[in-house]
Amino acid sequence: MTNCSGLVTALRRSPTITDRHQSTDHHRSDLLDVVRAAERAFDAVDDGPTDAREPARRVFETLLGGDLEPAPARARGEALPACAHLDDAVARAREHRGATAGLADAVATIARQVTWMRREEPERPTPGFADGHANAVLAHASGPEWNALMGISLMAPNVRYPDHAHPPEEVYLVLSPGEWRNERHAWFEPGIGHVVHNPAGIVHAMRSGQVPLFAVWLHLDRRGSAPPVAS
Ligand SMILES: [Fe+2]
Repeated sequence: MTNCSGLVTALRRSPTITDRHQSTDHHRSDLLDVVRAAERAFDAVDDGPTDAREPARRVFETLLGGDLEPAPARARGEALPACAHLDDAVARAREHRGATAGLADAVATIARQVTWMRREEPERPTPGFADGHANAVLAHASGPEWNALMGISLMAPNVRYPDHAHPPEEVYLVLSPGEWRNERHAWFEPGIGHVVHNPAGIVHAMRSGQVPLFAVWLHLDRRGSAPPVAS
């Protein structure tokens, strides 16, 4: 997970405990900004799926409720191959302006400080998927009743995310062109600034076209259920 340049940079200057606390505080503050920006972007959607409203609201309330835990950050400069499309994806989202551009700005602030991951060994990998996608968990929190998780996904052009399912209910805030499907809906393009809802356990996927696919996702499940998974 660590590349050489990141390791050398880290070894040149080992952070003090104070540095680490300040860094963690800044990162948490930046993540709260992402959550608030995501909430504003969600509220700006007036024609989204109505069944996304309740889970999205619970995710925002839980993440903003004071118990937000940032996912572990790593040194700036470490990335997966798909991260080469990050600047392009952010620039396209910013063109949309309004609450969507605000969310893109907030995500761009933290996107190079989070831990990007590949989805682990899908049953049926699709062509180019391994190097053509990157997921990052941004933060999680638990309230009295719910576990909430927020992350981002980035895909290179012309990549199909394999069909998958997970226990948490899922809401995507769409920041790019691209298509989504699930067992109840054939492939459709929601458009930048729109919302996709996947009920708990449903088989679903997404795919990019000529430009990168970029989205923020929210996961919600009841406390005491299985550990959260990424996208
Ligand atoms: Fe998913």
